[in-house]
Amino acid sequence: MAAAVPEKTDTPILEPDRVPKHVAIIMDGNGRWAKSHGLPRTEGHRRGTDNLRRILESSVEFGIEILTIYAFSTENWRRPPLEVRLLMGILEMVIDRELKELHANGVQIRHIGEMDGIDPKLQRKILYACDYTKDNTRLILNVAFNYGGRDEIVHAVRRIINAGIPADQVDAALIGKYLYTGDLPDPDLIIRTSGELRVSNFLIWQGAYSEYYATSVYWPDFSKEELHKALVEYGHRKRRFGQTDDQLEAEE
Ligand code: FPP
Repeated sequence: MAAAVPEKTDTPILEPDRVPKHVAIIMDGNGRWAKSHGLPRTEGHRRGTDNLRRILESSVEFGIEILTIYAFSTENWRRPPLEVRLLMGILEMVIDRELKELHANGVQIRHIGEMDGIDPKLQRKILYACDYTKDNTRLILNVAFNYGGRDEIVHAVRRIINAGIPADQVDAALIGKYLYTGDLPDPDLIIRTSGELRVSNFLIWQGAYSEYYATSVYWPDFSKEELHKALVEYGHRKRRFGQTDDQLEAEE
């Protein structure tokens, strides 16, 4: 049998130690993508959902270990009721249709956000999907659904108070542990598609030192090549975490 010939590619190879471990994505622009193609918004969301599968596969291929996606924010309830129902239906459909394959590919699904407010039937499906995949280790997929960064912090503070933790023991590390992402490292890279330059209440605590990458590409068109571009740019960034260049060089 002939040996497989690697596909010819112009894309530079990513240095494994420069690949971000945790990438978070604000998947924006489904509606504008649809409008620009003369299609209904529903079609934009459908294409956006298809794209998620591609980006998941590429993330594993590029060596990303944790992917956090902003699928439905606490503010998205303000959208027309029909669109809210559609977005709820998409998550249900993704779980029904993709769970087995995600599991077979070693994806661990986690939910970050508030369960309260989500339809009980969908809540059960989310919990089932998380439990079903809990031992997988190839990629952690955090689905931010009914998620808001401020709500997350309020929630953490309430849990700290309810646990009876004295004020002098409350520090940043402790608050971090009480967030939905408690046991995970902060995102190294936060990507936003569609040209908007806002954080939109996404990982506002965890993103304190994340690198941000914005592209004008709408989410349904954010391909493997676009993700690769973001990772290459990340690879060139110098993360200082408040220190000076001289200090960083001395540590190297
Ligand atoms: C932004 O487009 C996207 C969303 C509000 C989330 C929808 C995400 C998907 C369909 C991907 C997969 C979803 C799940 C639940 C796993 P927009 O509607 O804000 O676009 P616009 O700003 O152009 O109107």
